[in-house]
Order: sequence, then C-alpha cells, then structure tokens
Amino acid sequence: MPRLMFSVDEDEAARFGPPILQACRAAGVEAEPCGPDHPPEQVDYVVLSPAGPVRDFSRFTRLSAALSLWAGVERLVGNRTLAAPLCRMVDPGLTEGMTEYVAGHALRYHLGLDAVLAAQDGDWRPELVPPLARERPVGVLGLGALGAACAAALSRLGFRVCGWSRRPRKIDGIDCRHGEVGLGEVLRRAEILVTLLPETPATENLLDATRLALLPPGARLINPGRGTLIDDEALLAALDTGALAHATLDVFRNEPLPPGHRFWSHPRITVTPHIAAATRPATAAPVIAENIRRAEAGLELLHLVDRDAGY
Ligand SMILES: NC(=O)c1ccc[n+]([C@@H]2O[C@H](COP(=O)([O-])OP(=O)(O)OC[C@H]3O[C@@H](n4cnc5c(N)ncnc54)[C@H](OP(=O)(O)O)[C@@H]3O)[C@@H](O)[C@H]2O)c1
Repeated sequence: MPRLMFSVDEDEAARFGPPILQACRAAGVEAEPCGPDHPPEQVDYVVLSPAGPVRDFSRFTRLSAALSLWAGVERLVGNRTLAAPLCRMVDPGLTEGMTEYVAGHALRYHLGLDAVLAAQDGDWRPELVPPLARERPVGVLGLGALGAACAAALSRLGFRVCGWSRRPRKIDGIDCRHGEVGLGEVLRRAEILVTLLPETPATENLLDATRLALLPPGARLINPGRGTLIDDEALLAALDTGALAHATLDVFRNEPLPPGHRFWSHPRITVTPHIAAATRPATAAPVIAENIRRAEAGLELLHLVDRDAGY
C-alpha cells in the first residue's frame, strides 16, 4: 500500500486530503495517508504546496513522485533535495477558472465597461459603441495549459488572437509566434495583452520598459501569470504617461500585496488578490490520483516539470 504524505498547510490538508484519498480509491489505488512526522524513508508520494512544512526532501529516499497542488512550481523547482519527479497541477477547474477570469477582464477592456458605467449621468453618448471583437487584436504570452485555453476562448469570442511560447506551437485559430522576433510581433499588435508565463529566470522582467513600449498606445494588460514577469517600475511609468491605459494584476512579487503598495491606489490599475484560478479539490483530486495510479503501474507521469526549463 503506497504511503502518501501531505506537505501542505492545515486548510489545504482538510480540503484536499479526503477527496484525494477517495479519488485514489476510485482509481484502484488504496493509499495510506501519513502525517508530516512520518519517517520520510517510508513515504512513496508527497502532495505538496509552497506553504507546506517539508523543505528538505533528502531523507525521502523511496519517493516515486512529488505532486504539486499548484500550477506554478517556481518555489519547488530549484529544491535540490527533491530528487523525485515533480509534477505540477493541470486541472480542468483551474483552466476553466483562468479562462473565465481572462475572458471577463478582456471583455471589460474591449467593451469599455468602465467608461460605460461612468457614463450613467443623463448624457446620451452613442460614441460608446464598442468595436467588434474581430477588430481587436489580443496577445497571449504563454500557450501552455492555461494560456492555450484562454487564447482559444478569446478566439471563440471573435478576438484576433496571437500567442507566444518558448517553442513553436500550432493552435487552431491562434497566430502562434515564438522567439524574440515573435515576441516583438505579438507585442506590437496586442491592444489587450494577457501574460500567462511561468516564473523562471528566463521570464523575469520579460516585460521591461523596452518591451512595454512596443505595445500599441493605450494598450491594456492582464497579468494572472506571475508578478515577476513585469518590471514594476516600468509598468508604473508606462501607466503614468498613459502609454499603457490600464493593467489588471492578479499576481505580485510579494503576496499578499502590502496595503500601502502603489498598485492599490493607482487609478489605472485593478488589483485582484491572486484569485484568477484556484485549484479545486473536486477537479484536482482525480489528477493527483491518476498520477499515483500511473506511477504504481510504471506508466509515464502526467504534467512532469522540466527542471532545466524551470516549469
Ligand atoms: N493567478 C492564478 O490564480 C494562477 C493560477 C494558476 C497558474 N498561474 C500561473 O500561470 C502560469 C502558467 O500556467 P500553465 O499551466 O499554462 O503553464 P504551462 O502549461 O507550463 O505553460 C507555460 C507556457 O509558457 C511558455 N514559456 C515558458 N517559458 C517561456 C519563455 N522563456 N519564453 C516564452 N515562452 C515561455 C511555455 O512555452 P512552451 O509551450 O514552449 O513550453 C508554455 O507555453 C503558471 O506558471 C503560474 O505562474 C496563475
């Protein structure tokens, strides 16, 4: 019977523990849960989140896999004590949540909803009629599990979507680019830019002053990826001059975003508290269970992290 340890916080243990064990049973694997004080040498799988207590995995000598509850693994990927395969979370609930968040905020910008809501003052303004989505170029940086789903949803809404990834990709309806030249091409077009890249050394401050300046005048930015993707000072400068019209930020270098941070009070920034997409027990538990089933059966694991690429 494989032993399963949860290196997560108390709340996560209560929410995810029972559904994961149940999903394992449904997948035909009877897993024995063990607490964080269990002898590490006897543990076969660790379900983990960045808030979890275990930092040093060097004594987890029989670990078959480390299974992250989070999609973003930047706080785990560099852990040299973790020798076992690391899998990140790719879960339908997470993907749906992110798609809805991105579509909602993109439509807010596209339809000019802020101006519409502010115009409820007795003055009839036909100029508020928005363009059609097919007249609006949108860029999506990152075409992975989340970025590709968001790009596809935006394309279904009619937007002209171009996307950017590290390696060449083909996605129906999306103009896919890669490499430095491709990045410039996407940025130059994107009236609305969505950033869904992971935090890695290669993506840190990707959107610096030079690259932000490539965006069309008055572009809008939606960042549910990671705070480190954007140079904060360059972003504030672009917003202050109006080169960038507005930014919706869900993720930050320091979370929770400190109460006094300029982002909170900036008239051209909407802050959301890392709520774009949550891992949900009902949809995530079967993903964890499926990977345990696969490992027990000697099959290839799903959603393996490429430790060299950092995601
Ligand atoms: N705000 C929230 O609530 C929330 C929730 C979940 C996740 N997230 C964030 O969303 C991120 C993306 O998640 P995901 O599941 O879509 O990840 P993923 O499947 O690993 O996709 C990552 C995408 O980024 C691209 N990429 C990575 N490094 C790059 C580079 N240096 N240059 C160009 N493209 C690069 C990848 O290119 P390839 O296609 O070539 O590999 C891939 O298309 C996570 O890492 C996390 O930070 C946020």
